[in-house]
Amino acid sequence: MSQRLGVIDRYREWLPVTERTPPVSLLEGSTPLLPSRTIGAALGLRRLYFKYEGLNPTGSFKDRGMVVAVAKAMEEGARVLVCASTGNTSASAAAYAASQRLRAIVVVPAGEIAMNKLSQALMYGAKVVALRGNFDGALAVVRELAATYPVALVNSVNPHRLEGQKTAAFEIVDALGDAPDYLVLPVGNAGNITAYWRGFKEYHAAGRCRVLPRMVGAQAEGAAPIVKGRVFKRPRTVASAIRIGNPASWEGATLARDESGGLIDAVTDTEILQAQIWLAASEGLFAEPASCAPLALLARLAREGRVEKDSTSVVVLTGSGLKDPDAALNNVEPPIELDGDARALAKVLKL
Ligand code: F0G
Repeated sequence: MSQRLGVIDRYREWLPVTERTPPVSLLEGSTPLLPSRTIGAALGLRRLYFKYEGLNPTGSFKDRGMVVAVAKAMEEGARVLVCASTGNTSASAAAYAASQRLRAIVVVPAGEIAMNKLSQALMYGAKVVALRGNFDGALAVVRELAATYPVALVNSVNPHRLEGQKTAAFEIVDALGDAPDYLVLPVGNAGNITAYWRGFKEYHAAGRCRVLPRMVGAQAEGAAPIVKGRVFKRPRTVASAIRIGNPASWEGATLARDESGGLIDAVTDTEILQAQIWLAASEGLFAEPASCAPLALLARLAREGRVEKDSTSVVVLTGSGLKDPDAALNNVEPPIELDGDARALAKVLKL
């Protein structure tokens, strides 16, 4: 059996690591690229894949960038990490800090993040501060904090985060033998779309792929600053991970979109929740609401005939559905409560 490697060991020569970079790893990355069994056919798409990032150690893609950011922060002598987060970044920062015996301070918008993400940060032992306001305000505060005090900022404005995250693009090419025609992903603070585009371009320049994908980004209608070209002061959506009104990597996202000939569009909360249940019930893949925004967008584009049938598409499922079950549970039937024996059970099941 081949040895499993974390992101730094697997893609060392593509990352800003040296002999002095500490060997940080929770065996992140190397996530499955699953061919669709149902949805692709239903949409008339011959080749549709899901990159299931929910199988990273803390349940989201954030671990790819966090491992590099934490290793580099340690190399530079940092002992305290800080980040603002809609939840997943804080879970990831807290886990890597715990594994390296660093302190983590995470600032989250009060009342706006999913309980399971909060529980992760708390269990990993981070100091959690719930700041009144939204994510954009929290990010501004931690940026100022890191500019003044000896703490390492590990949000995606830290360039090492994007370096680590670009490895997801490498994995897709390594698995498919080339880049897909469409790479479809959610856009919140816009670091990930920026990182993927960088990864594909680097592999392309090195002759590892012939195709450069069109980058297709999905925002939620109530939090669609890049789609609308304006800051959203009060971003609103069921997809709390991407409830962001003023993305830090705005320019990176528009560059990825424009250089690749792609697009960034918005989907409604209803479309997101429909896509979530479709994905779970027809493919066996439970992803959090933000992760389902790109599937909702791809479904719309396919129905409008805007995706060629013979193309290859990859939808990035950025976080596990277990992160935020509350958002999903309104759309399924509750369990049947029953007092009784096998006969009673057979009767309610109409067997
Ligand atoms: N999907 C999930 C599950 C996320 O947690 C995020 C971002 C995104 C998509 C969007 O990625 O910001 O690079 O455009 N979550 C951040 C956080 C903001 O704090 O966990 P992006």
